[in-house]
Amino acid sequence: MNTAQSQPAAAPRRQVYAGYTGKADPSERDRIVHLLQMYRSTEHFNAEYLPLWAQASPSEAMKGGLRIIQAREGVHARLIKERLRELGETEFVEVSQERRAQVEPFFASAERSDVEKLESLVHLFADVDDFFAPITGLIADIKEDLRTRELLRTILDDEYATVKWFRQMYESLAARAAQA
Ligand SMILES: [Fe+2]
Repeated sequence: MNTAQSQPAAAPRRQVYAGYTGKADPSERDRIVHLLQMYRSTEHFNAEYLPLWAQASPSEAMKGGLRIIQAREGVHARLIKERLRELGETEFVEVSQERRAQVEPFFASAERSDVEKLESLVHLFADVDDFFAPITGLIADIKEDLRTRELLRTILDDEYATVKWFRQMYESLAARAAQA
C-alpha cells in the first residue's frame, strides 16, 4: 500500500498504482503482471517500514494495530510474489532507494508524532476509492485470469480495513492531543 507513497503531510494525493507502461497494445496478462510487480514492491516495502513505526511509537494502541497491518502487508507481498511466479516471472521490482530514504526516516522517527504520521496517511487516503481505483479498474477488466482477479479483490478488502483503522486512530489520537 500504498502506501505507493511519499509521506510528508503536505505530499500531493496519489494513487496506489501509476498505471501500465510498456507495450502499445498490452494483453490482459501484461497489464496484470505490470500491476502486480509494482504493487508487490510497495507492499513489501510497507511490511519493512511499519515495524520501525511501531518501535518508535509510545502508544500501545498503535503498536497493537501496526503489528497486524504489517503482517497483512507481508502476506499481500508474499502471495502476490507467488502469483507472479505462477505467471512466469522470476525477477521482482523493488521500490527505489530514493523513496526508501524519503519514507523510512519519517515513520521510524521518534521525533515525529503518531498523529503526524497518521495524518500523512489519512491525507493520502482522503479519497480511498480514487486511491485504489487503478486496482478496482483492473479487477473489472479481467476476463480470463480469475485467480488474480479474486486475489486482488480480497487484498483490497484488507486495504479498506487498514485505511479504516488508520482513520479511527487518527481521530482518537488527534482528539486526545487537542485536549492535552
Ligand atoms: Fe496491502
